[in-house]
Amino acid sequence: MNIITTVKEMHNTIIEQKQQGKTVGFVPTMGYLHEGHQQLLMNARAQNDIVVLSIFVNPTQFGPNEDFDTYPRDMDRDEKIAAEAGVDYIFFPTVQEMYHDEPSVSVRVKSRTDVLCGRKRPGHFDGVATVLTKLFNIIAPDKAYFGMKDAQQVAVVDALVRDFNFNIQLVPVETVREENGLAKSSRNVYLLEEERDQAKELYKSLELAREQIQKGSRNPVEIVKLMTEYIEGHTSGQIDYIEIYSYPELSPLKHLTGKIIIALAVKFTRARLIDNMTLTIN
Ligand code: PAJ
Repeated sequence: MNIITTVKEMHNTIIEQKQQGKTVGFVPTMGYLHEGHQQLLMNARAQNDIVVLSIFVNPTQFGPNEDFDTYPRDMDRDEKIAAEAGVDYIFFPTVQEMYHDEPSVSVRVKSRTDVLCGRKRPGHFDGVATVLTKLFNIIAPDKAYFGMKDAQQVAVVDALVRDFNFNIQLVPVETVREENGLAKSSRNVYLLEEERDQAKELYKSLELAREQIQKGSRNPVEIVKLMTEYIEGHTSGQIDYIEIYSYPELSPLKHLTGKIIIALAVKFTRARLIDNMTLTIN
């Protein structure tokens, strides 16, 4: 496994590999790897000749009051996990290498971002789309792997690949969870001890919503109310949003039908957790 820190070397390495007819799978991350990232790497390893993992805490997707400076980082640990997962190259650039001093061009996402995290974190998905455009150009993968844990991000990448004509297959991967249902996240380390136990209730509230739909409920207002009461009754977290939309378009629905997403964000003392469930209703 090689660690590459410059755009030029990464680019040249990929060109060499492609000249030899190798297919390239790409897993973009911000590091502090956990089983969720490992699952993406496992899929990439199984489906491609070469696997590239990027580790880059991307400043342009963090708001001014968000956790860019304190985002957890541990390169030594990440290197070990990546080697075990069979990664061929880690792309590990500095902020200066990726953005230079004053970039002149950035990507703006015009739809699928006025709801959920996009509404709560203005500019976040512009930053994600900008860094992914750069990474897709540098690495030119055949396939790129993204977790459904960040389902709105998958919807944005789907639009980015389509609208900017990237010749890349987007591969969505199911959310990896702890045994109690809590979605694995680099930010779970911020949870206080009692909150760690409460955090499992977020997934329970999604299961409750699914049961309600299975029983025949098609009214999003009713389901959001049920989930709100459940989360308020079982956790000390502050609900940031609980919303239901069509997926991947993220359009509002009065009556639930077709492919839908039920998504939530809840703020605990030091961590804001997100989770979601996608369902197809006939
Ligand atoms: P990061 O939060 O590090 O996540 C990297 C990838 O891992 C994303 O595709 C995310 O959805 C996936 N992932 C995280 N937790 C997961 C889980 N429990 N199960 C399955 N997949 C999971 O998302 C980002 O980084 C950044 O926005 C990035 C795409 C790298 C752009 O900067």
